[in-house]
Amino acid sequence: MHLPKHGHGGQHRSGHMPLHAARTYEAATRIAWLGRRSAAYRQLVDDAGVRPGDDVLDLGCGTGALTRAAAEASGTGQVTGVDLAPEMVAHARRLGGGASYVEADISRLTLPDGSVDVVVSALALHHVDPEARDAVLASAFRVLKPEGRLLIAEFVPPRWLPDVARSHRMMAADPRADLVDRMARAGFRAIESRRRGIFAIVRAIRPLSVALI
Ligand SMILES: C[S@@+](CC[C@H](N)C(=O)[O-])C[C@H]1O[C@@H](n2cnc3c(N)ncnc32)[C@H](O)[C@@H]1O
Repeated sequence: MHLPKHGHGGQHRSGHMPLHAARTYEAATRIAWLGRRSAAYRQLVDDAGVRPGDDVLDLGCGTGALTRAAAEASGTGQVTGVDLAPEMVAHARRLGGGASYVEADISRLTLPDGSVDVVVSALALHHVDPEARDAVLASAFRVLKPEGRLLIAEFVPPRWLPDVARSHRMMAADPRADLVDRMARAGFRAIESRRRGIFAIVRAIRPLSVALI
């Protein structure tokens, strides 16, 4: 297994940062959340408006914590987690939970146009090269059905974080304004953002009709 150089993902040839140490990631996040991860991710799924029967896509699913929460809410719908790291996909499959998993780059989704009701993503977009983030949002827009819902949750650095820690690209700043801009450029509407705990949450709707420019 290829292990990341700095513990937070080695740079992929595409410029993205897939995480390869799936077991370590799963153990570390379980500890860091102190038993509150499932509840926090269920709340994200609720915020995203996942309803019974919805088809849901989780971008950068890692070990599948959010994917499993989405599958629980969707029930009979098709819920799919996508991750670039084969180790993450394999680990998520082992944990099961009624979802399927695909190894792919979220900036180049190959799913059919208008095929899912909801796209969710947690703590993944900062791993994608900034130049490729618009492509992720454009892909999400393309695969969503008209009036489909998008929710992205990213990490907000806490106010008490020392400056030295902010030098890491993940800890640099509150990502909400950038996400709102990118979603608007991708064509999303009804964009709303909020902060809850460690999450900056931005959600939006793919409009019913897309203006032709
Ligand atoms: C910090 S983890 C978050 C995992 C999961 N969403 C969670 O909340 O626990 C970020 C994930 O994004 C994945 N990733 C990074 N770049 C990606 C890309 N371009 N396409 C697909 N997955 C990517 C990494 O491999 C990693 O599993």
